[in-house]
Amino acid sequence: MEIVIVPDAAAGGELIAAAIADLLSAKPDALLGVATGSTPLPIYQALAARVQAATLDASRARICQLDEYVGLPAGHPESYRSVVLREVVEPLGLTEESFLGPDGNAQDIAAAAIAYDRALAEAGGVDLQLLGIGTDGHIGFNEPCSSLASRTRIKTLTRQTREDNARFFDSLDEVPHHVITQGIGTILEARHLVLLATGEAKAEAVALALEGPLSAAVPASALQLHPHATVVVDEAAAAGL
Ligand code: GLP
Repeated sequence: MEIVIVPDAAAGGELIAAAIADLLSAKPDALLGVATGSTPLPIYQALAARVQAATLDASRARICQLDEYVGLPAGHPESYRSVVLREVVEPLGLTEESFLGPDGNAQDIAAAAIAYDRALAEAGGVDLQLLGIGTDGHIGFNEPCSSLASRTRIKTLTRQTREDNARFFDSLDEVPHHVITQGIGTILEARHLVLLATGEAKAEAVALALEGPLSAAVPASALQLHPHATVVVDEAAAAGL
């Protein structure tokens, strides 16, 4: 595993945007798995700046989601589909046609999760998967004690994750209890995993994931199993290393 310590979140965003730009120049139609939350926003801003400055051609890139809330109404601004369209797809000048995501409003959520796993495989697999990390060590929405071999499926959020994500909603009550998330086994199939963690709130989870034992209790420790994983942390998130 490659661990890069950067001075701050903006530097992390630039570094990862440069890696994505390199990937797209080698493979213009690469499938890029994106994460939500606050952490990856500097990556998306750095990518959009390159597209605007015409130093990056992302016009053939394909984008896919890591996870999704179950049951938010279509078009809800905090559904991860809406977030990814707003923060990634539109700023890069792409359309929904280049975008893959699970259906969090399907009648049969279990079937929708299996269908999404299959769709990722049929799209040729994810070339580079961006990840954040939850304060409890989760990746995607794979909460502690998720199977390290898990596939895309429905999960129930812990109270802590719902509280962490309540800032995006008017109240905690509005945060869904259920989600569809790529499983840890699914995530590990991406050709390159890139996890960004910034801020002191992530320091403990980062230390456990990178230097603790491989354990389902810390889902991000699964990166230790991957042959090509890069972890970019700012000084604050690296404090426990
Ligand atoms: C959510 C997402 C994760 C993300 C995490 C951390 O739980 N499902 O993919 O990594 O939030 O978010 P943030 O970067 O805002 O701390």
